[in-house]
Amino acid sequence: MPGHGLTPILLCLLPMWRILTPVFSHPQHSRCLLKQRTAVCNNGELTFVPAGLPDNIEELQLNNNLIQTLQDNTLHFPSLKTLSLACNSLKKIESNTFQELKFLESLNLANNNLDAYYQETSQALKTLPRLRVLDLSENYLDEEMVAALLQNLTSLEYLNLSGNLLRRLDETSFGDLWQLKELDLQRNIMFELDGAFKSNHKLQRLNLAFNYLPCLTDFHMTQLVVLNASHNFIEWFISRQDLNDTFQLETLDLTNNKLLFFPFLPSHSHLRHLYLSHNSVKFYEHLVGNDTVLNSTTTVEFYNMKKHMNNVTAELWDDSLHGDISSLEILDLRANQVAYFPQGFIQRMPALSRLQMCTNCLETLNLTSEQLSSSLYELDVSNNRLNQIVADEDTMMAFGNLTYLNLSLNALESLPSGLFSSLPSLRSVDLSYNNIDICLPEEAETSTETMSACVDWTNIVSLRQLYLKGCNLHKIPSSAFAGLSLTHLELSDNPGLIVRGSMQSLSRTLQHLGLGNTHIQDFDFSHFQSLTSLNISRNSLAHLPPSLLNLDLTVLDLRDNKLSTIASGQAQALAPKLHTVFLAGNPFNCCQAEWFTTFKTTKTIHMVGLSDIECEDSLQTTHRLERNAYLCSGEGGESILWYILLILPMCLFFVGVSIIVPLTFKPQMLQKSIKKKCLKPTSY
Ligand SMILES: *[C@@H]1O[C@H](CO)[C@@H](O)[C@H](O)[C@H]1NC(C)=O
Ligand SMILES: *[C@@H]1O[C@H](CO)[C@@H](O)[C@H](O)[C@H]1NC(C)=O
Ligand SMILES: *[C@@H]1O[C@H](CO)[C@@H](O)[C@H](O)[C@H]1NC(C)=O
Ligand SMILES: *[C@@H]1O[C@H](CO)[C@@H](O)[C@H](O)[C@H]1NC(C)=O
Ligand SMILES: *[C@@H]1O[C@H](CO)[C@@H](O)[C@H](O)[C@H]1NC(C)=O
Ligand SMILES: *[C@@H]1O[C@H](CO)[C@@H](O)[C@H](O)[C@H]1NC(C)=O
Ligand SMILES: *[C@@H]1O[C@H](CO)[C@@H](O)[C@H](O)[C@H]1NC(C)=O
Ligand SMILES: *[C@@H]1O[C@H](CO)[C@@H](O)[C@H](O)[C@H]1NC(C)=O
Ligand SMILES: *[C@@H]1O[C@H](CO)[C@@H](O)[C@H](O)[C@H]1NC(C)=O
Ligand SMILES: *[C@@H]1O[C@H](CO)[C@@H](O)[C@H](O)[C@H]1NC(C)=O
Ligand SMILES: *[C@@H]1O[C@H](CO)[C@@H](O)[C@H](O)[C@H]1NC(C)=O
Repeated sequence: MPGHGLTPILLCLLPMWRILTPVFSHPQHSRCLLKQRTAVCNNGELTFVPAGLPDNIEELQLNNNLIQTLQDNTLHFPSLKTLSLACNSLKKIESNTFQELKFLESLNLANNNLDAYYQETSQALKTLPRLRVLDLSENYLDEEMVAALLQNLTSLEYLNLSGNLLRRLDETSFGDLWQLKELDLQRNIMFELDGAFKSNHKLQRLNLAFNYLPCLTDFHMTQLVVLNASHNFIEWFISRQDLNDTFQLETLDLTNNKLLFFPFLPSHSHLRHLYLSHNSVKFYEHLVGNDTVLNSTTTVEFYNMKKHMNNVTAELWDDSLHGDISSLEILDLRANQVAYFPQGFIQRMPALSRLQMCTNCLETLNLTSEQLSSSLYELDVSNNRLNQIVADEDTMMAFGNLTYLNLSLNALESLPSGLFSSLPSLRSVDLSYNNIDICLPEEAETSTETMSACVDWTNIVSLRQLYLKGCNLHKIPSSAFAGLSLTHLELSDNPGLIVRGSMQSLSRTLQHLGLGNTHIQDFDFSHFQSLTSLNISRNSLAHLPPSLLNLDLTVLDLRDNKLSTIASGQAQALAPKLHTVFLAGNPFNCCQAEWFTTFKTTKTIHMVGLSDIECEDSLQTTHRLERNAYLCSGEGGESILWYILLILPMCLFFVGVSIIVPLTFKPQMLQKSIKKKCLKPTSY
């Protein structure tokens, strides 16, 4: 029998195969990349830890595989410090899996299914005496599972529990994590934190963003440096007022909550960054001592339901209790309801560099009485109801660092004379959507008023960006921008604007020019050699200005004009340079759309709103240009309808001939010619 003959050979091979096993026979090892003492086995379809890896590796990455169980005795790496198993479908870690990893410091188990066998997994974690960094994010864990998993992990310093199913925490949750420095709890469903961080005296960074917390009262974590509680439902933030210790807090993020009051900050702190945007904060100083409005409720008390301990009482309406804001550098109050600042409030922030007040209810701003810090760098009071900005000369001189000033979307009709020219660092001014003109030369010279309804922009040497959209401008004086080195000038939404020679002085420096909705027609762009971005939308232009072609435009907005085509020479000149082009809202001719093909085939162009670009065919029907470009052939610029109308009689003629002729001529030859001449075009 032939089988007998083979057996000795197999037996011979067997010992050799055994020897080679660890190195070659496991196909899965080949998916790993060894780099010094790091083994990278990511993105394979591994279902278990590959065998055959060197024992002395210090880092093992097994992310994005299909490992469901980590079995005992599969990890023999006594020097391993970092193990990463994110994005597997890991359900179970057998309790002795980590037995040999006595030096493991960092373990990433993010995005797995550790909820399934969390008890066994928690046994495994307990065998890691040096674990400092643990990522358990996105594992469907609830508070009970977390408490079990974290038991005895006394060496842990960084813990990530984001994207789990935690609802309420108490002092048992993190009770053993004495060394914890950073804790990420964002994107859970927490609505209660009851003494949860009592044992974590070293905690410095805490992220509670995207939860359902209704309030943070009795805040007393003096060692915390960064607290992020954005995107919750917080109505009250109250720090414990009776503590004399200085809080280490530097960054407090309470954006996107439901605050009605400015937070009750610690009495002593180093708070530098305070983010409060998208709340309903306003100040109530005007109500203090007003008996007709407030009868007796001047305090609000919060009781700790469980133990009646640490009751919190907050004095409402008293705006002097905002806590220590003396180190504040960034105050972000965007999208709130602030109508005024309490007296002395701004003054108490001598280091303030960014005041962001966009979208509030400010009506006047007296820069003199507010005494804004001299290190102010950005002042954004856009989209308020400002009808007055007051500043005396000394005040204006004091803003040596003011660089960004946004006053857009207010109801300003005048400004302190010389406001902008006294700001030596001013780079960017946005005055859009106010009713403020540009001064004529004679107005600028003769004006002695403290308030002026126009601005003299000349010779503000530091200015680079000027936004004057929708300011009701009509005629720009020809010397308006003399002495400026603007790179950005926005004049859009000033219908009927007369620009004339005013912009010649900017031709060397200007990079962006906005002339949308100004009704300009025959502007000569040829001198603007630095221009890279141009907005000439909404101007009823029937042709592309020829002077554009020599520019190196990368962004061009041509929307809502009357363009029927772009001459092929123009398209070819623009295409290699353009990165972004806006074209919707023009009555393009479907049959003169060769430019579209040019743009479409230029891979570097992004045509914004491509599907909104429409064209009309010769029957006045509107098509989406993207879809219908093939209807017309480019060169002739004629509709396919014309071809059909031309070809149809020809076909009919040949068909007629083909019926008549067979009787007299050779039929086969003609059939061939019919096929050639008629049938081809109908293949559309
Ligand atoms: C965990 O800590 C508790 C005390 O907090 C102790 O009794 C227990 O033995 C510890 N378990 C392990 C596995 O170290
Ligand atoms: C925690 O994990 C989430 C999701 O895996 C990640 O987005 C976040 O950056 C991590 N947090 C920290 C502090 O590394
Ligand atoms: C707070 O957390 C949110 C969500 O992760 C993040 O977008 C935001 O930048 C954080 N805030 C700060 C000040 O880091
Ligand atoms: C805080 O300091 C004040 C005055 O220095 C003192 O009267 C008060 O007892 C202190 N409070 C605490 C809780 O130490
Ligand atoms: C009290 O409030 C009423 C109504 O808002 C107002 O008319 C009155 O001037 C206020 N009185 C004081 C002392 O502020
Ligand atoms: C003010 O308080 C008194 C008693 O405390 C009460 O009788 C009265 O109705 C209150 N007035 C208003 C306007 O609430
Ligand atoms: C907190 O308030 C409750 C209810 O008024 C009271 O019984 C309790 O004694 C207060 N606790 C403290 C520590 O003041
Ligand atoms: C602005 O504030 C200054 C200083 O407090 C004051 O003298 C001036 O009258 C105020 N101006 C207006 C218009 O309120
Ligand atoms: C001006 O503002 C910038 C940006 O906030 C800051 O880095 C710089 O220190 C400030 N300079 C002065 C003199 O305050
Ligand atoms: C000024 O504020 C408005 C409204 O908040 C915003 O749309 C605009 O982009 C800002 N201007 C600049 C130059 O940032
Ligand atoms: C160009 O100006 C118009 C009119 O102000 C404006 O609606 C449009 O958004 C601007 N285009 C770009 C790309 O910003």
